[in-house]
Amino acid sequence: MANIVRNVGALRAAVAEYRGSGERVALVPTMGALHGGHMALVDAARGAAERTIVSIFINPTQFAPTEDLASYPRSEAEDLRQLAEAGVDLVFMPAPDEVYGAGFATSVSVAGPGAGLESAARPHFFTGVATVVAKLLLQCLPDAAAFGEKDYQQLQVVRRLVRDLDIPCEILAIPTVREADGLACSSRNAYLTPAERAVAAGLYEILQAMAQRLATGGAVITEIEDGMRCLEQAGFDVIDYLALCDGESLVPLSELHDGARLLAAVRLGNTRLIDNVAL
Ligand code: PAF
Repeated sequence: MANIVRNVGALRAAVAEYRGSGERVALVPTMGALHGGHMALVDAARGAAERTIVSIFINPTQFAPTEDLASYPRSEAEDLRQLAEAGVDLVFMPAPDEVYGAGFATSVSVAGPGAGLESAARPHFFTGVATVVAKLLLQCLPDAAAFGEKDYQQLQVVRRLVRDLDIPCEILAIPTVREADGLACSSRNAYLTPAERAVAAGLYEILQAMAQRLATGGAVITEIEDGMRCLEQAGFDVIDYLALCDGESLVPLSELHDGARLLAAVRLGNTRLIDNVAL
């Protein structure tokens, strides 16, 4: 069983003890329902520091009232089993009041990479993420923290946040872990019906084919239009966005340049899927 702490005082005491022994600390922030993608973050964290802390906190401020906060997948016992097996030193599992105490009135909002894409459909989302990530980093003060490239815009928001607020923490960007058919691992994949699950794998396939055509001279506007058509034909119900963007600022590009990223968000029934590929 992993060592669990539920309040900031106990978290800081443990971190101080690790530091006192000259050990580096890496944090993996999660909302639980752990899958292969999270465990790759844990592996990277373990490679970056002597001590690994995983936080499990389903952050209410990143869910809109219409979203799935109440039904978000929860698998606490299985999460703790996996984390113990992976050799995680400490699991920080605060209750909502520990994170958002009475009268909580502060929020962190990141413009730049936080604008557009996910924010168009989920305007509340990155303020919720940036606020809780800033809090977790300040509560734990890790030397490094691991985030997945699957949530690519979130990763750029966190990088910007850490730079802008001078938080002394290295951000580790970990490549997306995929199922055998290419679908990016996500806690929300559990919502897909078998028929939707079969369609879902097409997202990565289509992005990869587009990336290949763009890299070999395909015109951006034409490829985006073709890509939208392919997604519709593959059976996705709604395409929230399909865009080629600068890999750091996430400004949309009309011409390919180095470090560009192709990003998409689609809906299948009640499930929203996001994915991205590097060019
Ligand atoms: O990616 C997630 O699971 C969440 O957005 C995070 C970073 C743990 C913040 O709640």
